[in-house]
Amino acid sequence: MLRGACGRFAYILVRNGGPVLSNEEFRAVFDASPDGMLIVGEDGRILAANRQCRALFGYEPAELEGQEIELLVPEAEREAHTRHRGQYVRHPHPRPMGVGLNLQGRRKDGTTFPAEISLSPLRTDGGLRVICAVRDVTLQKRLQSFSEAALRATEEERQRIARELHDDTAQRLARGLRPPELEDAGLSAALLAHFRNVEEGTGFRVQAHLEPVDGYLDLTEKLALYRIVQEALSNARRHAGIEEAKVRVFREDGYVVAEVRDDGRGFVSVGLAGDGRGLGLVGMHERAAMIGAGLSVDSHPGEGTVVRVAIPIEGDDEG
Ligand SMILES: Nc1ncnc2c1ncn2[C@@H]1O[C@H](COP(=O)(O)OP(=O)(O)OP(=O)(O)O)[C@@H](O)[C@H]1O
Ligand SMILES: [Mg+2]
Repeated sequence: MLRGACGRFAYILVRNGGPVLSNEEFRAVFDASPDGMLIVGEDGRILAANRQCRALFGYEPAELEGQEIELLVPEAEREAHTRHRGQYVRHPHPRPMGVGLNLQGRRKDGTTFPAEISLSPLRTDGGLRVICAVRDVTLQKRLQSFSEAALRATEEERQRIARELHDDTAQRLARGLRPPELEDAGLSAALLAHFRNVEEGTGFRVQAHLEPVDGYLDLTEKLALYRIVQEALSNARRHAGIEEAKVRVFREDGYVVAEVRDDGRGFVSVGLAGDGRGLGLVGMHERAAMIGAGLSVDSHPGEGTVVRVAIPIEGDDEG
């Protein structure tokens, strides 16, 4: 049990009616605390300060005793502190450290430091005492902002990696999706390889008439043409209700033209983007637009469908 007593060290531990700690021992315990310890009276005067207060505040414990506690509070906050102290004395309650108050201590030289302060009220014969433990949390605050910065950096790094990975993955995917023949053997070879695949896989026949046009197109244009033919052919196979389509690639009036024709059931095309059921027609238009080519989908129910893409080529004076 802790009981109020008289003198500078107003508290003496007693057990079974007799003191457990002498004043000397109490002082030793008081000074051994790693926190700055202050015992404050209800008038706000410091009754006792332990040795740690020297390191914390730059004052000798003896200098502090008898001073108002506001001496250790930054000037700007003194008034508010005095007010709060008055309220506290009327309703004293224990307040632990780390309750999220952003408290500051003031050193003898006027500098300040972030502090955590616990308060323990104690009723004594001589009136209310408040035991304050003060801890300098500069390091913790620094660590906290450091780890916040580290977290932010990690997050930014993660996003950067995700972006790079994404681009890289997309590029690799794009590379993987590009038919290898396109670059090496040329457009005709790539298309013929595709037609063969379709025929072998589905039995759908492709009549191909392919002029050599590689010299007129760059790789992007070739890839766009290849994809458009691929989709048009897939549509013919899946939707036209017939077993065969014709593909022609040729040069005409300053264009390289690719045409996919079927004599199937045809459809009523609604605007540029087809009938909105699929993405194929939309994709064809987008690919054509990307390379500045014209695309037409000419279809009539019962008469079949012609998909035609015309890529303008420069320096074609053939007519
Ligand atoms: N050659 C064709 N013959 C008959 N109907 C066609 C032909 N091409 C397209 N269509 C009709 O136009 C619709 C839209 O075609 P689109 O390619 O945009 O979508 P999809 O083929 O249905 O789906 P996705 O291409 O996204 O797999 C088709 O669903 C089909 O009804
Ligand atoms: Mg389609």
